[in-house]
Amino acid sequence: MSVEKYAVIGHPIAHSKSPLIHQAFAQQFGKTIVYDKVLAPLDGFLATVQELQQQGYLGANVTVPFKFEAFDLSQTLSERAQAAGAVNTLSFSQAQIQGDNTDGCGLVNDILKHHQTALAAKRILLLGAGGAAQGVMLPLIAQRPAQVTVANRSQDKAQAMLKKFATEAQQFDVSLAVTSFTDLNAPLNEPYDVVINATSAGLTDTPLSLSSQLFGAHTLAYDMMYGRETPFMQQARLAGAKVVDGLGMLIEQAAEAFFIWHGLRPDTAPVIQAFR
Ligand code: ATR
Repeated sequence: MSVEKYAVIGHPIAHSKSPLIHQAFAQQFGKTIVYDKVLAPLDGFLATVQELQQQGYLGANVTVPFKFEAFDLSQTLSERAQAAGAVNTLSFSQAQIQGDNTDGCGLVNDILKHHQTALAAKRILLLGAGGAAQGVMLPLIAQRPAQVTVANRSQDKAQAMLKKFATEAQQFDVSLAVTSFTDLNAPLNEPYDVVINATSAGLTDTPLSLSSQLFGAHTLAYDMMYGRETPFMQQARLAGAKVVDGLGMLIEQAAEAFFIWHGLRPDTAPVIQAFR
């Protein structure tokens, strides 16, 4: 039997840890797989996907900047991909392309499994309303927090994002609200339970001008970025919060993709530890 082939497609792609993560998972089950890094030209995502399909690849992870194009070319979409408006996991079967999104599930699983923080009945502050923020909205709401407050530079964008989740929020009894970074500086009764940074400000080391009163000793401050301490993480740490980067999210989203493709649930804790 030929070896199952998978890939991660992005631009750039050299930095991707996905091949190492998926190989570590495969090893846990004694499986041999091929998992390649594929650099797609910025105007050549579709052609790259078609080529992989023709070469017999069974699936691909998709990263920046192609998650929206992956959404558009998927012939079937999971509920969470539809909610995210983006796809990070493609499965190829019988010439069909199935799109899923495991990012939000990765974030939630990391918080629940590795940071011992239940989200039910919690007050969550989500910073950002771009692709990364939208990708985690549905899995967060499904945990039945008391409230999800979204703060974004552009208020319109945050309002538009929340509108998409009104039905789910009602279904799970979650109160949704939009606020501004300025309003977050107004006196607050108590710190948030969980603050998630889903902005891309950390990429350029730009501080978010947040009030430190958002963070208390019990607050979990989660940055979706990993690899270094962002200004958000530094501020939260100095304010006494428990600070977490996005490495666990990266590995948990990969574990969910691995499950989609192989029907097997890897043990993520040793892989996270190895990458630290
Ligand atoms: P991603 O896919 O990483 O979410 P995106 O869709 O471009 O990328 O969204 C970037 C997010 O980071 C947005 O919420 C953006 O705020 P705006 O919608 O107001 O643009 C936020 N962001 C980026 N740089 C920021 C900064 N310096 N301060 C505050 N928010 C920032």
